[in-house]
Amino acid sequence: MRTTVGIIGAGPAGLLLARLLHVAGIDSVVLESRDRAYVEHRQRAGILEQGTVDVLRAAGAGERMDREGLRHDGIELRFARQRHRVDFPGLTDGRSVLVYAQTEVCKDLIALQLRESGPLLFEAEALAVEDADTTRPRVPFRRDGRADVLECDYVVGCDGFWGVARTAFPTELSQAFERTYPYGWLGILADVAPSHDELVYARHDRGFALLSMRSPQVSRLYLQVPADTDAADWSDDAVWAELERRFETTDGWRLERGPITQKSVTPMRSYVHEPMRYGRLFLAGDAAHIVPPTGAKGLNLAVGDVVTFARALTHRTETGSDGLLDDYSATCLRRVWQAERFSYDMTTLLHPAPDATAFEHRLHIARLERIAANRAARTDLAEGYTGFPLD
Ligand code: APR
Ligand code: PHB
Repeated sequence: MRTTVGIIGAGPAGLLLARLLHVAGIDSVVLESRDRAYVEHRQRAGILEQGTVDVLRAAGAGERMDREGLRHDGIELRFARQRHRVDFPGLTDGRSVLVYAQTEVCKDLIALQLRESGPLLFEAEALAVEDADTTRPRVPFRRDGRADVLECDYVVGCDGFWGVARTAFPTELSQAFERTYPYGWLGILADVAPSHDELVYARHDRGFALLSMRSPQVSRLYLQVPADTDAADWSDDAVWAELERRFETTDGWRLERGPITQKSVTPMRSYVHEPMRYGRLFLAGDAAHIVPPTGAKGLNLAVGDVVTFARALTHRTETGSDGLLDDYSATCLRRVWQAERFSYDMTTLLHPAPDATAFEHRLHIARLERIAANRAARTDLAEGYTGFPLD
């Protein structure tokens, strides 16, 4: 098999890249190790920055998103049993975010790809990336028990944190920057209308809690738990009781309960691999960087990477210049580190860490109080949350 761009992985990064290349008249083949149902039903975050919404719309993938997505103009910060709203448009020249689940973005992009664009092969596992430092990189892969090879002009590793693409970088070139956190999130989906019309980020002495949503009928809620927690150890009653404690306010706000349909634990990690390019192999999305979910940046960062790659390759096709491809890693990493900083700040601000001192705990409360009281501090949060423009 031969193609211009071999894409490993059909998460949001790989799927959107294939679509952007198709729109630009560049052919690609996507290899995805899992089956379609698995990819379409994985629970992930659900906040799209304005820039992400604009890209999906321009790529022709915005129809259902525009119909079903919920526009949010702010979030609530909750601590010391008080509620503080952060108003996005008023602080950022009109920016807002859209609540639309990543699984739905993937479903829309898969349907589009299978209908209009190049091959998307499920249950096709890339085994390696070979000859990345030549003009003819190759991806050996296995499908239906048979070995095959995808020959390409370029390979983009969109294969997530556990993928193979990153392992093709020579060890002397690779640098990893990492932090793991001594806690994770226990996430639930519940068939109950969200108890608040915006997301609520709550810091409590017992731990962080987040109220989010998937639709006007489905709530998504999270609890900070120790890193080694087994979701099965939490009964539904225990989850609701703990959420109620952490969300409690002095003004009688109530959390509505409902049937829990899904329960799982997500680990928290910050990770960046530098550089994001080796020869004709480019990394995009979780393959290159991970953020803790507190800032809801993972999907939006992946979108930034693939937009940057598609623009760079289009530029080369139109002008013959490799300039933007050569800049790919540096261009992406500038934005990646801003998102890493923002996600780290949101995470440490809102989670009482088990190993934190009483002094650090007081400092976090002081920072939250500053955000609640000071417009400049709130503006910084609102700009980070709604995302910096792609260019
Ligand atoms: N061959 C083919 N496919 C592979 C291989 C392989 N060897 N290894 C992994 N994959 C596939 C996975 O099955 C998965 O579908 O690559 C895909 C990677 O997708 P994601 O993990 O969703 O990563 P990405 O597209 O970068 O999306 C980033 O996902 O994890 C969230 O918070 C993150 O929202 C962010 C988004
Ligand atoms: C989610 O809805 O899953 C979600 C929302 C906001 C976050 C993280 C996750 O910060």
